[in-house]
Amino acid sequence: MVSHNINNTKTQFLEHQKQKMGLIPVTVVALWYVIVVFVGFPLASNAELDSSFYKNTCPNVSSIVREVVRNVSKKDPRMLASLIRLHFHDCFVLGCDASVLLNNTDTPTKIESEQQAFPNNNSLRGLDVVNQIKTAVENACPGIVSCADILTLAAEVSSVLAGGPDWKVPLGRRDGLTANRTLANQNLPAPFFTLAQLKSAFTAQGLNTTDLVALSGAHTIGRAHCSFINTRLFNFSNSGKPDPTLDTTYLQTLRKTCPNNGPATNIANFDPTTPDTFDKNYYSNLQGKKGLLQSDQELFSTSDADTISIVNTFASNQDAFYESFKASMIKMGNIGVLTGKNGEIRKQCNFINKKSVEFDLASAVPKEVWLAHSK
Ligand code: HEM
Ligand SMILES: *[C@@H]1O[C@H](CO)[C@@H](O)[C@H](O)[C@H]1NC(C)=O
Ligand SMILES: *[C@@H]1O[C@H](CO)[C@@H](O)[C@H](O)[C@H]1NC(C)=O
Ligand SMILES: *[C@@H]1O[C@H](CO)[C@@H](O)[C@H](O)[C@H]1NC(C)=O
Ligand SMILES: *[C@@H]1O[C@H](CO)[C@@H](O)[C@H](O)[C@H]1NC(C)=O
Ligand SMILES: *[C@@H]1O[C@H](CO)[C@@H](O)[C@H](O)[C@H]1NC(C)=O
Ligand SMILES: *[C@@H]1O[C@H](CO)[C@@H](O)[C@H](O)[C@H]1NC(C)=O
Ligand SMILES: *[C@@H]1O[C@H](CO)[C@@H](O)[C@H](O)[C@H]1NC(C)=O
Repeated sequence: MVSHNINNTKTQFLEHQKQKMGLIPVTVVALWYVIVVFVGFPLASNAELDSSFYKNTCPNVSSIVREVVRNVSKKDPRMLASLIRLHFHDCFVLGCDASVLLNNTDTPTKIESEQQAFPNNNSLRGLDVVNQIKTAVENACPGIVSCADILTLAAEVSSVLAGGPDWKVPLGRRDGLTANRTLANQNLPAPFFTLAQLKSAFTAQGLNTTDLVALSGAHTIGRAHCSFINTRLFNFSNSGKPDPTLDTTYLQTLRKTCPNNGPATNIANFDPTTPDTFDKNYYSNLQGKKGLLQSDQELFSTSDADTISIVNTFASNQDAFYESFKASMIKMGNIGVLTGKNGEIRKQCNFINKKSVEFDLASAVPKEVWLAHSK
C-alpha cells in the first residue's frame, strides 16, 4: 500500500520540484529585499509568541502535556518520534496551525485532510495521543490552549523524554480554519530528495542549511517504512544495484529487515544502535554511510556539499547539535503562526469549531433564503 503510493507520487514530487527550483531563488531574494528594505527586522523573529503565554490562563499546561506523553511513551517509546514528526508536518503546511490534525469534512466547510497526503498517509502517528492531551488540557483550562501549541509542546516534551534537549517553547499560536492536502504533497520533503531539493524545501519555509542538518537529526529516533528505502536496497535509480552510498554491511542488515516485496507494514529503525535515544548518533551514522533514507545520506555523501562540515561538527559535539536543534525547532515552530484574533482555539483538534449562529441558521433555512438574507 505504502509502496504503491510512493511510486505513484515520485514523479509528481519531482515534477513539482523542478518547477520550484526555478522560482524559489527569485522569491527569496525578493522577500529579503522587502524585509530588509521596508521592514528592517529579520524573517525569523516572531514577537507575538511568548513562552509565558498561558501563565495566567493555563499555568499547568506543560505538565499536563508531559504527563500524557510520558504515560503513552512508557508503552510505546516510538510515540516520542511520532509526535516530533507531527509538529514538523504541521509547520511545513500552512504554518504551525494544527492544519495536519483536521479530518476530512464536508461541513461547515469542505476540508480535504492532509492526513491522506502521500508523506502522511499510512505513516502519520500520534493523532489519538494529541486528542488525549487536548482532553486533559480542556479539563484543566477549557477553551484556552490551541491544538497548534499542544503539538509544539508535545514535540519539546518528546525530545526531553527521549533524552534530548529541552527548551522554552514560545506559545500563543491559534488554530487554522482549513487544511490543504495539495500543499502537504508539495511542501513536505520526500525521502528520495537530493540535497538541492531538500535545501529548496527548507528555504521555502525560511529555514537555512544549518536548520536542515540540525532538524534532520530528529531521525536519531523513530522508524521508517521499508517502502521508503526499497529502491536503495535493490534497484537504486534503476541501476539494478543498491545505493553506492550505503555501507555494504548495513545494506545486508537492512535487507533482512526489509526484504524485496516484503509486507508494506515492515519498518526499520533510523538509528541502528540507539533507536529510541535522542543522541548525536544520527550524524556518526551518516559518516559511516549508515543513513537510512537517501535524504539523510545526501547531507554527508553529496560531493563538496556545505552540509558535510555541519554533519562533522554535530557528530563530534553533541552540545553543538543540541544547541542548533533547539534554535531550529523554535524557528520551525514560528513558521506562519496565527496569533491575536486570527484563527481560533479549536474545541476538538480534528474539526474546526462550528460558528454556532451562522451554522445553525445556514442548516435550518433553505440555501436561497439564507443567501438572500445575508446579502
Ligand atoms: C529533511 C527532510 C526530511 C525527510 C525527507 C523526511 C522523511 C521521513 C520519512 C520518509 C519518514 C518515515 C515515515 C514512515 O515510514 O512512516 C520520517 C520519519 C520521521 N521523521 Fe522525517 N523527514 C525529514 C525531516 C524531518 C524533520 C525536520 C523532522 C523533525 C524535526 C523529522 C522527524 C521525523 C521523525 C521523528 C520520524 C520517525 C517517526 C516515527 O517513528 O513515527 N523528519 N521522515
Ligand atoms: C499539574 O499537572 C500535573 C500533571 O497532570 C499534576 O500532577 C499536578 O498536580 C498539576 N498541578 C496543579 C497545580 O494543578
Ligand atoms: C496514565 O496512565 C494510567 C494507566 O493507563 C492512567 O490511569 C492515568 O490516568 C494516565 N494519566 C494521564 C495523565 O494520562
Ligand atoms: C480522523 O481521521 C483519522 C484518520 O485520518 C481517524 O483515525 C480518526 O478516527 C478521525 N477522528 C475523528 C474524531 O473522527
Ligand atoms: C491512503 O491510504 C489508504 C489505505 O491504504 C488508501 O486506501 C487511500 O487510497 C490512500 N489515500 C490516498 C489519497 O492516496
Ligand atoms: C491548496 O494549495 C494549492 C497549492 O498552493 C493551491 O493551488 C490551492 O488553491 C489550495 N487549495 C485550497 C483549498 O486552499
Ligand atoms: C541559519 O540561521 C541561523 C539563525 O536562525 C544562523 O545562526 C545560522 O548562521 C544560519 N546558517 C547559515 C548556514 O546560514
Ligand atoms: C530496475 O528498475 C528498472 C526500471 O524499473 C528495471 O527496468 C530493471 O529491470 C530493474 N532492475 C532490477 C535488477 O530489478
